Amino acid sequence: MRDVQAPTPARLESAPTVPDVQTPTTLIERLANNKKSTTSCEQRKMAHIELQNIVKRYGDVTAVKDFNLEIEDKEFVVFLGPSGCGKTTTLRLIAGLEHPEEGEILIDGQRVNHLAPADRDIAFVFQFYALYPHLTVYDNIAFPLKAVRVEKSEVDIRVRKVAAILQIAEMLDRKPSVLSGGEMQRVALGRAMVRQPKVYLLDEPMANLDAKLRVDTRAELKRLQHEIGATTIFVTHDQVEAMSLADRIAVMHQGVLQQIGTPHEIYNQPKSLFVAGFMGMPTMNLLDAGLGSHEGQPALHISDTDIWLPLSPQQQARFTTDTERDKLIFGIRPEHITAMREPGERSLAAEVHLIEPLGSVNILDLRLGTDAATQEPILLRVRTHPTFPATIGEKVWFDFDENQTHLFDWETEQALGR
Ligand SMILES: Nc1ncnc2c1ncn2[C@@H]1O[C@H](COP(=O)(O)OP(=O)(O)OP(=O)(O)O)[C@@H](O)[C@H]1O
Ligand SMILES: [Mg+2]
Repeated sequence: MRDVQAPTPARLESAPTVPDVQTPTTLIERLANNKKSTTSCEQRKMAHIELQNIVKRYGDVTAVKDFNLEIEDKEFVVFLGPSGCGKTTTLRLIAGLEHPEEGEILIDGQRVNHLAPADRDIAFVFQFYALYPHLTVYDNIAFPLKAVRVEKSEVDIRVRKVAAILQIAEMLDRKPSVLSGGEMQRVALGRAMVRQPKVYLLDEPMANLDAKLRVDTRAELKRLQHEIGATTIFVTHDQVEAMSLADRIAVMHQGVLQQIGTPHEIYNQPKSLFVAGFMGMPTMNLLDAGLGSHEGQPALHISDTDIWLPLSPQQQARFTTDTERDKLIFGIRPEHITAMREPGERSLAAEVHLIEPLGSVNILDLRLGTDAATQEPILLRVRTHPTFPATIGEKVWFDFDENQTHLFDWETEQALGR
């Protein structure tokens, strides 16, 4: 089997009253209230971001490779990828904290390569929240406003409002050293939220929140962004967070933008083996296969097994009975395979290798054969109903939806179509 590695933007204008911290309103309600207080003369700022052929090197390491991306005004784009793939570096380039060796960065059509961070009108939440240790929570949040000489009374209103939203109002007098990781992260978010910039860049802003706070914040953040419409780039390596938040997801790997698309496109039409293997829990089955002729029809042979699989109509149109290709990767997601107790019309037999009960579903690993080179079992993961009866070692049958299969080129690892 192929092993593939596998809150926020708000216009926080002054309002006549500070929200009551005790009132159990949601983040979105509180921010929506802030929005209503916006005066008509304060027009929302536009922000269209364009990265053209960006290259960033650190010595021998090329952290970002020929990166091209256009982000529309109001769009919520998530950078998703494994550790070290260049997510933070790309955000820092947009913020002006790093400079590219090659390429252009444009905001609203204007080249900003030469502009200092302070002149780009961007609020950044760092991955490692970089609070000022000698300042209180209050002064940490107020810092960006004091730097641009906002009036003291206005600073006070904004800081207290943000603190109420993030549920850190009772900590305003404390120093960062006595806060938990999640609390520090909220202070860092608050520092971005007091501002009204063109762009929010959020680098794993929820990584240290506990599971419940994270899910709650995620849901509210999504509604909030939809309502307020600030251009936002959000970094995460959590695919669920990416799927649930993004208008579009940019999947990165080793400094290269692998694919940009809606969550639906990224999940259902992965352009490369990397994207296919990175998205999904459990991940897509990726098996070595070859293309040949079986019973007079073009068909896929799963390597080192007796299994021949029919092609989808699109694949049939593409490959003829004469097409022979002995090195392909065949992909199918566990939810597109049906396990059966009895043989069906065109089902295939396999042995149950492992059962993982996950509560709402069971994951069965079916053994299709043995890899001739490694002697490892060739496994197919299948999602079943939790009541599907199965025991390790017994024979079951499976069928799959051939319209949900994927083929990838062995050499280039690019998708060959469904
Ligand atoms: N200042 C630096 N000097 C040298 N190498 C660096 C520097 N910053 C980043 N890199 C390297 O560039 C690559 C991309 O790093 P980056 O921090 O952008 O990754 P990331 O996707 O944000 O990862 P993570 O999910 O772990 O935060 C890595 O190989 C990293 O080691
Ligand atoms: Mg990072």
